[in-house]
Amino acid sequence: MHDQYPKLLEPLDLGFTQLKNRVLMGSMHTGLEEAKGGFEKLAAFYAERAKGDVGLIVTGGISPGFVGRLSPFASQLSSKRHLKKHQLITSAVHDNGGKICLQILHAGRYAYHPFAVSPSRIKSPISPFKPWQLTRSGIRRTIKAFVKTAVLAQQAGYDGVEVMGSEGYLINQFISLHTNHRSDEWGGSIENRFRFAHEIITGIREQVGKDWILMYRLSMLDLLNDGSNWEDVVYQAKQAESAGATLINTGIGWHEVRIPTIAASVPRAAFTWVTKRLVDSITIPLITSNRINTPEVAESVLSNGDADMISMARPFLADADFVLKAQKNESSSINTCIACNQACLDNVFKGKRATCMVNPRACYETELVIEPAEKIKTVVIVGLGPAGLACAKTAAERGHRVIAYDAHDLGGQLNLARKVPGKEEFNETLRYYRHYFYQYDIELHLNHRVTAEELNNDEYDVIVIATGVTPRMPHIVGIEHEKVLSYIDVISGEKTVGNKVAIVGAGGIGFDVAEYLLNDEADGSQNVDAWLKDWSIDRNYDSRGGLLNDKKTNLTGSKRKMYLLQRKDEKLGMRLGKTTGWIHRMVLKNHDVEMIEGVSYQKIDDDGLRIIRHGETRMLAVDNVIICAGQKSNSELYDALKNSDKEKYLIGGAYKAAELDAVAAIRQGVELAAKL
Ligand SMILES: Cc1cc2nc3c(=O)[nH]c(=O)nc-3n(C[C@H](O)[C@H](O)[C@H](O)COP(=O)(O)O)c2cc1C
Ligand code: SF4
Repeated sequence: MHDQYPKLLEPLDLGFTQLKNRVLMGSMHTGLEEAKGGFEKLAAFYAERAKGDVGLIVTGGISPGFVGRLSPFASQLSSKRHLKKHQLITSAVHDNGGKICLQILHAGRYAYHPFAVSPSRIKSPISPFKPWQLTRSGIRRTIKAFVKTAVLAQQAGYDGVEVMGSEGYLINQFISLHTNHRSDEWGGSIENRFRFAHEIITGIREQVGKDWILMYRLSMLDLLNDGSNWEDVVYQAKQAESAGATLINTGIGWHEVRIPTIAASVPRAAFTWVTKRLVDSITIPLITSNRINTPEVAESVLSNGDADMISMARPFLADADFVLKAQKNESSSINTCIACNQACLDNVFKGKRATCMVNPRACYETELVIEPAEKIKTVVIVGLGPAGLACAKTAAERGHRVIAYDAHDLGGQLNLARKVPGKEEFNETLRYYRHYFYQYDIELHLNHRVTAEELNNDEYDVIVIATGVTPRMPHIVGIEHEKVLSYIDVISGEKTVGNKVAIVGAGGIGFDVAEYLLNDEADGSQNVDAWLKDWSIDRNYDSRGGLLNDKKTNLTGSKRKMYLLQRKDEKLGMRLGKTTGWIHRMVLKNHDVEMIEGVSYQKIDDDGLRIIRHGETRMLAVDNVIICAGQKSNSELYDALKNSDKEKYLIGGAYKAAELDAVAAIRQGVELAAKL
């Protein structure tokens, strides 16, 4: 039956219980854990994924006590009075035929409050709070707290726990010499540094009995200069197994490390080779993780023998039915996670609820409900960028007759975005919409600029205008010079770009253009080995942290001299996404792109671009000036319908152009369609 993905969809027998397939929905803290009424919403979120036939779900990290909380108001499970809300989750998952584990996560020095603790008093570079050094009795109390949380999780009906031992949190802080400078029985040798984790696993196993899942998330490649070596990793895996772990999951990197591990520029399945190195050292099943986002990639990872099970976290924000669709051999209908982080991790870092760019229902399952339409209408959608596509698909899903127009091709600005290095995953988004346009029989008119007269058709009940944006041209003397190009000219490949370039405007699009020009001769394919080398990661794992000995990135040089300029007198890229902005800045810096802030533009002429900065004039002798100075709404068609009494809406960039935002555009499209 499962002819395309036999390994992925094969059950996994754990002896005392069976998992339906090899798919683990990886741990994700969503922000609902702390929200008022959040557990009801979390229960619905997990229930949809359980209904979607995920083999095993893990919750986001929950602290075993107050000091282990990531932030002062983060969630903890440490007393019987917390059980009731967790039971909402476990019964919702079980009612839908799923299994779920609770992740126990103690933040250690990553805690964002003054009570943070760690094995040694060493501040992390990403928290303002210097942790307190745990005393020996404090360590004993913390181990007990972990065990108590596991016991409570069992009472709440969870099928097991995942003990979070990676990504630089407390357990990892004990294991690493980077953060553990102790000279007692909890520091020094790897036996001593792993003792904390070992006692937690042993203690939990003793209390919960043998027939309960105990997963350990092991830091297999921490990417720290003075991090774990491979012998340490093997030791931990063997010890975790002998202490009673049922499954070992893979953790990659520490949060403070400046090497991307989950961003879109990380090739798919870039780290499964790390998990594979452990396969012969232990007998319990191994789970691999990070940037596995399609059933095809997951199947090939398993076929290659890299692991026994695949963890996918964000792909389950993007599509709750990932597994069901794989079972039906319909992978082209999967809404693929494009690894943008824009609505999930970036939101969590801003203290907002996680959701998903391509699936605005994620974590809003009880609020954004898509139901069959009460009255079938003919809905006309003009403009098929993100907002129009999302609106058309959802309206058709509800049973409406949908007629869609675009002056060009389906996709709008997504057709540009997908050409930018690291944004190729947008191809999947287009593939997904094409699938549903075909499945729902949406009447599609491409390369046709529709007029207000055409829309004044009695057959049409609702008109949705999603005509997007056009680039804004700033008032600079010489802006009409032939060396001036718009970002569309450049990314579409329509115009040739010279070897000396000034990019005016350093928002998301300015950075995109710079990265496009660094790579415009590349073929766009993702080569894991080349990428690992670029970021100084050593596939042979010869030194600590799995880093190459010179520890320098190979992101160097550029065939072009590039200037990236902005008017605002602040560091460039400050407003890019929290979890990915640093990567873009680092890539451009290492490629010698000159980033200049606080610029006013004086003149463009045959010599180049003349700028003034802090009172000083400078001539940038460039062949081209590329304008990335924002965009304006294309709302003329909507304005032309002003006197029409038809039901009409304006959405996406045509409604608000400020900074191109596919997250807002798709959400607006789906929300509107849900109400029509
Ligand atoms: C919003 C969000 C929250 C996360 N929270 C946790 C967490 O609480 N515990 C954890 O171990 N990993 C957490 N992760 C990391 C994921 O488990 C996973 O390792 C990472 O997203 C890479 O896998 P993916 O490419 O399949 O998403 C989180 C990831 C995201 C996107
Ligand atoms: S917001 Fe982006 S990275 Fe996050 S789950 Fe959705 S598509 Fe994936």
